[in-house]
Amino acid sequence: MMYGTRVVSGMRPTGRLHLGHYHGVLKNWVRLQDEYPCFFFAADWHALTTHYEEPLTVESYIWEMFVDWLAAGINPNQAVLFIQSRVVEHAELFLLLSMSTPLGWLERVPTYKDQIEKLNHHKDLSTYGFLGYPLLQTADILIYRASLVPVGEDQVPHIELAREVARRFNHFYGRETDFETKALEAVKKLGSKRAKLYLELRLRYQQNGDEEALAQAKAMLDEEQSLTLGDRERLYGYLEGRYRLILVEPEALLTETAKIPGLDGQKMSKSYGNTIGLREDRASVEQKIRTMRTDPARVRRTDPGEPQRCPVWAFHQLYTDPEVHAWVEKGCRSAGIGCLECKQPVVTAVLRELEQFQERAQPYLDDPALVRAIVADGCDKARRIAQETMRDIREAMGVDYS
Ligand code: TRP
Ligand code: SF4
Repeated sequence: MMYGTRVVSGMRPTGRLHLGHYHGVLKNWVRLQDEYPCFFFAADWHALTTHYEEPLTVESYIWEMFVDWLAAGINPNQAVLFIQSRVVEHAELFLLLSMSTPLGWLERVPTYKDQIEKLNHHKDLSTYGFLGYPLLQTADILIYRASLVPVGEDQVPHIELAREVARRFNHFYGRETDFETKALEAVKKLGSKRAKLYLELRLRYQQNGDEEALAQAKAMLDEEQSLTLGDRERLYGYLEGRYRLILVEPEALLTETAKIPGLDGQKMSKSYGNTIGLREDRASVEQKIRTMRTDPARVRRTDPGEPQRCPVWAFHQLYTDPEVHAWVEKGCRSAGIGCLECKQPVVTAVLRELEQFQERAQPYLDDPALVRAIVADGCDKARRIAQETMRDIREAMGVDYS
């Protein structure tokens, strides 16, 4: 477990989740929860930035989405699960950050122009909320002082924006008057041996630009479990010769995820109607896989095929082992096996996985109050941290009046 490295990510509650979400997002979250303190939330306000003309229909989606997360293996004892709008501090930070965020930074976000062009025929997105949406996302991240944000490729420019906003904020407001005293106090807390090493490494870095010394000192701080976030930041800042940072610059965490195609070979997506739901029933899943598209060259059973041109092959990559792969490649190219035969091991493996999801979901379906309690608890935990950050921010900006 890496102490002091928080992970934050959000998902819009737009409907029931499918295997595309599982392989593209959730599997990764499940892995991260073992390594870092994780904060995962339902981005309900984000849904309103594009669907503002009607009340949110997300109420039921939200709970279904949390059950899907839990079904996929998100562990509520490890990760904090919450709803964005229940931690109103996100909105306060969004507002305060908006004061110093240049319009150009938002207009330049690639998704902004793309989406406006793409959706313009259906709805008017020349709204303040839609332009500001990446800044709301920035607030979602910065308020937890998260360093890592697992997202897809398309979201990278938003994380870049968050970095720039954090940097600008620290530049304007990040000066702590008694920084040096506080930093030296934090050094003492390391214990005399480590404190001495820290100061030596700092000197080597600052006088000789010794990058190895810097890396070594950082590694030492990372291992130091007992440090508060504030002290950790001070020690980092003192090491590198900068003032305390109030906000942490986050990084996008792009993980190689094997892509799962939809039943028709296109990207798996609700709007294409080519999905397999995380909690879909057996008969329907079996039927869908049996009828899913294969290599179009295999019209008759006797026509040889090419796995590379077949979406079933991508399923095999995710769901069956190398022995089966060899059997498929040979049998497909020689017309030695039929497509239904080829799909059988996939059907078996997918059903086994979905069964596991169903088992995990069952207690929550039997007692919906369980999910509400988990999320209420998550909102409390998230809010406590968000409030702590907001205290520092208000103080730094001079709007605390205490
Ligand atoms: N914008 C993200 C999406 O559409 C969802 C999101 C909102 C998010 N806030 C976030 C993701 C903060 C990561 C961190 O997918
Ligand atoms: Fe696809 Fe398998 Fe049929 Fe080949 S045999 S086309 S890999 S389903």
